[in-house]
Order: sequence, then structure tokens, then C-alpha cells
Amino acid sequence: MCGVTHNEEGSYDIEDLKLKDAQRVKLVKELLRKLILNKDEIQRVGEAFKKEMANALDEKSSSLQMENTYIPELPDGTEKGKYLALDLGGTNFRVLLLELARGEILREEFKFYHISDEARLGCGIELFDYLAECVKDFMGLEGIPLDAKMPMGFTFSFPMKQHSLHSAELVTWTKSFNCPSVVGRDVVKLLQQSLLKHGMENIEVLCILNDTTGTLVEGARLDKKTRIGMILGTGSNAAFLERAERVHHWEGERHNEKNVIIDIEWGAFGDKGSIDFIRTEYDKEVDNGSLLKRSFTFEKYISGKYLGEVCRVVLKDLCDKRLLFTKASKDLFPAPWKFGTDNVSHIEEDAITGSNTSTIKVLDKFNYKFNVDYDEDDIKVIQYAAALVSYRAALLVSICTAVLLNRMKEKDVTIAVDGSVYKHHPRLKRWVKQLIKELAPEKEFHLMLAEDGSGKGAGLVSAIAERINARNAAADECQKLKQHNITTSPQKHSNGVNGAFHTSDINVYTNGHTNGHH
Ligand code: GLC
Repeated sequence: MCGVTHNEEGSYDIEDLKLKDAQRVKLVKELLRKLILNKDEIQRVGEAFKKEMANALDEKSSSLQMENTYIPELPDGTEKGKYLALDLGGTNFRVLLLELARGEILREEFKFYHISDEARLGCGIELFDYLAECVKDFMGLEGIPLDAKMPMGFTFSFPMKQHSLHSAELVTWTKSFNCPSVVGRDVVKLLQQSLLKHGMENIEVLCILNDTTGTLVEGARLDKKTRIGMILGTGSNAAFLERAERVHHWEGERHNEKNVIIDIEWGAFGDKGSIDFIRTEYDKEVDNGSLLKRSFTFEKYISGKYLGEVCRVVLKDLCDKRLLFTKASKDLFPAPWKFGTDNVSHIEEDAITGSNTSTIKVLDKFNYKFNVDYDEDDIKVIQYAAALVSYRAALLVSICTAVLLNRMKEKDVTIAVDGSVYKHHPRLKRWVKQLIKELAPEKEFHLMLAEDGSGKGAGLVSAIAERINARNAAADECQKLKQHNITTSPQKHSNGVNGAFHTSDINVYTNGHTNGHH
């Protein structure tokens, strides 16, 4: 991995801090220097990521999940059918109905449902029963009879241990969910049981997928060169198309798959200490105050759930050291977790426009009065801190993306991205693009916004799942019959004419059978 064009402090593309008081500049910079990664650290983060990816695939100790999704292919333009979908794990929970034909999404209906704190943090059964109630409500709105035979795709954006396309245990909750009794249980079974309890016994969950997988698949529908799906939102993660021969964990039969989508779960990168050298006191404080302590280390540096809090903790330290808000009452300062990442994005807007208006608006929200509680130099300090926190996030995401690109044999790859931080942070996209270019100079790549991969992807993956199931069932049946022929009638098998079955015969039968519900 090559180095990044850094100035002497290692930062890049961030305005220098200029204040009336030179001593204050010196102290602020000294304090915040720890948020800046130097070349050596950039290199070490990349190496640690590369090693942990390889370790996870080799089933050795790693903080990365590198989960086999059992999805061996991307859309090929034949996807068709009507599918229900659930999207759990983003900012909102949704139930969807998708209609596909010739690989295109003809219709997408959805409804958002609020998930209460009791359901998000309580006993898991309550959560799954609530999901089923929402499906029931949605079916009513769409005029679909409760007993209708409907296939469903389940986007479940949490780390999972997958056993097949439609079976996965929850490894740990992340973001704002924590129903401990669900950890280690098959979430498809839990959902299926709740659907049954609510009278929807004919809904069949065909596939479970992560939002990054959905984004990759939806990205591939839009651009055939897509090989990576990435989410930079409340949480952060990436999935990519890996060569199947590199994937050792494979439950059930293989069917000559050439590739398979791997869900990295890079949010957990560093949970075993491999990147502790970049961990600051600020990061420790954020972690200590988080819902799931000492887990999802990397996510806490980069995602929307945490960037606002990192920034708040940094600003708090500056206040405590009397380098910020010396005139304001301490009571005005936002309480833990009350300074959302949207504020960081707004402050960063001023770096684009060269003004202070957005920062003043943010401070207004917290009742700070310009020229009373703070002055222009306070604004500059705040903008400097927000830029450093944002830039570190962009850099860390870029390091891992560059490692991924360098791992692929394709020279030209499209990266499908979605998520609130990617969409709303005014400078992050540009930084990520520049930094990846510098970190993976031999690759051509294109960052493409692929919105709603978690919804559309669920429909596409369901259609892919049906195609694979039909094909694998046909191949298995064929294999069984071949074996049967060998044991009962070796002659028939060897000449292949007198009554031996042909794969094509079985294909026709099985395809017709499994696709029956459309
Ligand atoms: C969290 C989840 C992961 C998801 C990501 C983005 O990191 O563990 O599964 O992809 O958030 O939503």
C-alpha cells in the first residue's frame, strides 16, 4: 500500500487552524494531533485489515466475520416475481412489496414502522412478534390475503453466522438494538414462528441478507462492474464478491460455485486489539458510554451512530481545557449522545462554502448565542475538530476499501454505496475517492450511490435464491439418480441412452415445481 500525500502533521485537505491567539492554536493542535494518522499508522491499519480478512476466511482468529452469504451470483437480468421483504437494522424498519420482471424492479411499495425502545431493547420474541404484526398490517393495506403463498426476503443488518441462504444465527446486536435472548438463535426461524403465530403460515422466508449485500446486488443491477457494496450510515460495513475457492466455511453441498458474496462486518475490525494504536482517549470515552461496550471498535470511528459523539467528546475536552467556549455557561454543552452526526455534517458544510452560517445554526440549536457565548475563533476551533473527526473516518474507510480492491483480480470495479453519512456529509465522498486513489493506485474504481439496496436488494436476492434453489435441487436430484443408476443398473448408466436420465429432463421438472408459487 502506498502512502498518502500528507503534510508534515499527516493531515490532508483540511484547512489549517488560524486564530488570534497563536498559543491557543498550538494547544488545540497538540491536543487533537492524536486524531491524525501518520503514514506508518495508515500502513499498519491496512496490513491488519488484510491479515484479519485472510485469517477469518481460513477460520483462524480474527475480529472480522467474513460471513459466507451463500449468494454465488449477481443479478443476470432474468429476475422476476412478487416478493415481500423486511428491512430491519437501518434508521427505520420497513415492510416492502417488490415486483420484478426481466431483472428490473417494476414496483416497490413500502411502509415504515416505528420500533419502540421496549421492542429494540427487550425480549426478542416481542420484537419478532411486532415484525409479524407489521407484516400483517402491510398485507391488509396491500390487499394480500393473510394465507397467501408469498416468498419473502429478510434484510437483517446485523452480524450473523449463516448456515445457508435462509438460515442465520445472530452473532451480536449492534447500533441501537439489544435483545440479548436473540443472540445465538436462528432469526429466520424466529421470524417464521412469529408469522405463523399471526396467521401467515404461507409466507416463506427464502433468504436472509445484510444491507451491504443488498447494496452490492442492487449496485450490480445498475452497473455490471459492481463488486463491492458498502454502507456508511448509522452503522458501517461492506460486502464483496469473493472467489469461492478462497472460502473454506461452507455448510451443505457446494455446487461448483465460482464466487460468493462475503459480508465482512468491518464494524468489528479491531475488536481483538489489532488497531489499538490509533485508539485515543476520546474513542475510549465514546466506547465506555456506548450501548455495546468493547465491541464494534471500527464502527465507532466511522459511522453515523458515533461520529457526532466522538466530536462532542473532543469539544468537551477542549472546553475543559479552556480552549473553547470560555465565555459560555457549562450547562449549554450537549449531554452525552445528544450531539448527532447531522451536526458534524452541517459544520462541515461551512468548509465548502467558506462561511460560518451552518456552524452558527448548529450552535443555535443548543442555545449558544453568537458574540455572547462564543466568538469567531470558537467557531474555527469547532470546525477544525469536526474536520479532523470526519477526515479520520474517511481515511479509515478508504484504507479498508483499498485493501479490498487490491485483493480483487478485476482492475476496474464499481463500489455501490448507501447510507446517511455517505449521502449527507458534504466532504466525505470526495475524500474517500481521493484517498482510495492514492491507496490503490493500480486500480480503477467508481463510487456509485445505490439507494435502497436494503429494500430492492431483498427482492433481487429472493429472485436469485429461487433460481439457485431450483438449479441446485435439479443438480442434487440428478446426482442422486446417477448414483442410483450406478448401483442398480451400471449398464444403463454407462451407455447413457437406454433409459438413463438427462439433466435437462430433471431441470424442466424441478424448475416448474419450485417456481410454482408465482
Ligand atoms: C452494523 C451491522 C452490519 C450492517 C452495518 C450497516 O455494522 O453489524 O451488519 O451492515 O451496521 O448497517
